[in-house]
Amino acid sequence: MVFLQAGSTLIEGALGQWRNSNTLTTILYTATFLLIFTSLLKKIITYFENAKNDIKYPPYISSMIPFLGQAIAFNKDPIGFLEQAYIKYGPVFSFTMAGKTFTYLIGPESSTIFFNSRNESLNAEDVYSRLVTPVFGKGVAYDVPNHIFLEQKKMFKTGLNIARFRKHVQMIEQETSDYFRKWGDSGEKDLFVALSELIILTASRCLHGKEIRSILDENIAQLYTDMDGGFTYLAWLFPGWIPFPSFIKRDRAHKKMKQIFYEAIAKRRAGDTEDDMLQTLLDSTYKTGKYLSDDEIAGMLIGLLMAGQHTSSTTSAWLGFFLAKYKDIQDQCYAEQKEVCGEDLPPVEYDQLKKMDNLDRCLKETLRLRPPIMTMMRMCRIPQTFKGYTIPPGHQVCVSPPVNQRIQDKWGEASREFKPDRFLDESAANSEKFTYIPFGAGRHRCIGENFAYVQIKTIWSVLLRKYEFELVDGFFPPVNTTTLIHTPDKPIIRYRKRK
Ligand code: HEM
Repeated sequence: MVFLQAGSTLIEGALGQWRNSNTLTTILYTATFLLIFTSLLKKIITYFENAKNDIKYPPYISSMIPFLGQAIAFNKDPIGFLEQAYIKYGPVFSFTMAGKTFTYLIGPESSTIFFNSRNESLNAEDVYSRLVTPVFGKGVAYDVPNHIFLEQKKMFKTGLNIARFRKHVQMIEQETSDYFRKWGDSGEKDLFVALSELIILTASRCLHGKEIRSILDENIAQLYTDMDGGFTYLAWLFPGWIPFPSFIKRDRAHKKMKQIFYEAIAKRRAGDTEDDMLQTLLDSTYKTGKYLSDDEIAGMLIGLLMAGQHTSSTTSAWLGFFLAKYKDIQDQCYAEQKEVCGEDLPPVEYDQLKKMDNLDRCLKETLRLRPPIMTMMRMCRIPQTFKGYTIPPGHQVCVSPPVNQRIQDKWGEASREFKPDRFLDESAANSEKFTYIPFGAGRHRCIGENFAYVQIKTIWSVLLRKYEFELVDGFFPPVNTTTLIHTPDKPIIRYRKRK
């Protein structure tokens, strides 16, 4: 009450001044004063209300730098920053970056809130739509209510079935052999660039269909690169309508890409049916019985490729560097190719991929130590409580796979080491809920996990048979933390054709 009275006295004073002078300057001063005053008043009222209700916020990591807050420290080494904060503050803490408050939930117990919450409480669209909608387009993913996106995800799942995977293995094997022919017998090459180029080809062939794959050339690859301009910190911090050159390129590329899909869809509608994802989408209906529009199908196809592109190419590249570093494990994986498929190494088949347990564990361990998605985010709309702390609306609530996946209390002393055989132990930490989350969990869980495994294991079956790999002078790439997906920095690998 005292604050309210003091406030009204100050307002009266200010209004009095305005009446007397009636100048523009006075109006401006008064407006500024009122703004500051109302904001202060709101804070004071909230503080007292919270004190009355005994609300305790998560520990806050303060910073002397206005607005930017912890942005510089975090960007230098995000995982290290979060690990240190976990040791100091425990499983839930908040900090500010670029004017936004982030609350991280570390470890399986606190992550439960994140994965089990309703979308209305911890909301994905509020944080992802700005990045994703300009790239995928309207009417899909985070541009529609979550129950509609869940129906779209169900259509994807129908399209990603075992019968299709059997054909995908052949397509991926052929694309990989063709692509790596240009590498020759030995040399040093950028593995990440190669796998990124290859995975656009394989994903386009398997997920978009032969019409789209047949026209995929450098110009179309450039459209994907331009659309990628949407997935940057710039796009995350600033609204999409600002005419930054990268945003203009992204929007142009999106329009052109959509046009290409419309043409392919029109041809397919007029011609024969095929057994592929495009056909699944053409035949799918929402619960209401409504078919997808051409625009929705085009948006979903762009989304499908983009969701799997960086995640799979980054993971494949990290797997390559781990195999190059641990030559004994690489040799075991090569021996496994012969054990499973036969000494003469005929083309690999889906059922054989399933039996490649060594390669499987290496991929799993790569996804543990280098999960491509460093942070999953939601906007807090309804207060959430954990261990007596309340996370208020407006906080961006986050869970970080790389941090959960090497927490020492769960993964033991060697939590930072590449040890694929840890997964032989049935009681390994990954059996505990939310300690192993490279593909997320709950309603936003990835639908592409099985396809990603098929794709990456097929590519590496071809590469292991063709080449022996080693690090260049022992250099293992550090993590490039300047991109939203944690890619390898200076990812040059040495290779030599097997005899
Ligand atoms: C190694 C490869 C991949 C990794 C590590 C990965 C990781 C993830 C993660 C962590 C999420 C959850 C995001 C969140 O909760 O905020 C997710 C969601 C998703 N992923 Fe993947 N992904 C991979 C490949 C793919 C592929 C190949 C596709 C498509 C064929 C795909 C399609 C999707 C879709 C549609 C979602 C749902 C997003 C939502 O419901 O909000 N992903 N992925």
